[in-house]
Amino acid sequence: MDRRNFLKTCTAVAAASLASPSFFINTLKAQEGSFKPYNKAPLLKKDGTPIKPEEIDPTKQYLFFYPHRATPCILANLDKEVPPTEVKLADGSVYKWQGGVGPKKSIVAYSAICPHQLSYPTPDYSFINYYPQDTPSNIVKRGGVIQCCAHLSVFDPEKGGVVLDGPAQFPLTAIVLTYEDGVLYAVGTLGKEFFEDFFDVFKPDLRKLYKSSRKAKKLVEKCEVIEVSEYAKEVIRC
Ligand code: FES
Repeated sequence: MDRRNFLKTCTAVAAASLASPSFFINTLKAQEGSFKPYNKAPLLKKDGTPIKPEEIDPTKQYLFFYPHRATPCILANLDKEVPPTEVKLADGSVYKWQGGVGPKKSIVAYSAICPHQLSYPTPDYSFINYYPQDTPSNIVKRGGVIQCCAHLSVFDPEKGGVVLDGPAQFPLTAIVLTYEDGVLYAVGTLGKEFFEDFFDVFKPDLRKLYKSSRKAKKLVEKCEVIEVSEYAKEVIRC
């Protein structure tokens, strides 16, 4: 896509994010080709009520499972407006990422399955984590990144999950969020997915955790948001 078309697209996506959520999703769908819709699932607190954007602490990292029961995602409040941007893949293809959502357009979400070798948060440990601003990564010497300590890949949550450092060849899969009447929803994914590989590679572990592959793959209709430290015994940072 040339610069003129890209700017046109970014403007359209930005305008769409100010308009109704369905207009936003339709715009994304038409322009990207890589948007994949799943269930429209509200993000909820443990008590079952919607989590408000202002309740998402920018100094913490959160986890929820979407679009499948066993596929973890990182939720972060970047504490500033995060504009839409283009994401380029190694094969030259390009897609637009929608930027942050919520009143400050600061809330973002990504699949927590590392695009390198599929490391993901388990109840025992989490190698892939969001590093808030006050928790700098030792690799890139700053916070505001998502980093996988399995082989030191670093991703930029402000730029659609692109790779900043390390061996990963693909950006993180973005989780598309909308914000409607005070409620945050996950509605689909953007970019390359790794769910099928994940289910193949970790079949025995997932069967142990979820009793069957069918249950692990079940598409969720709502998402409980928790702090990663409530899920994984060990949060590994590097
Ligand atoms: S699995 Fe994440 S960097 Fe290798």
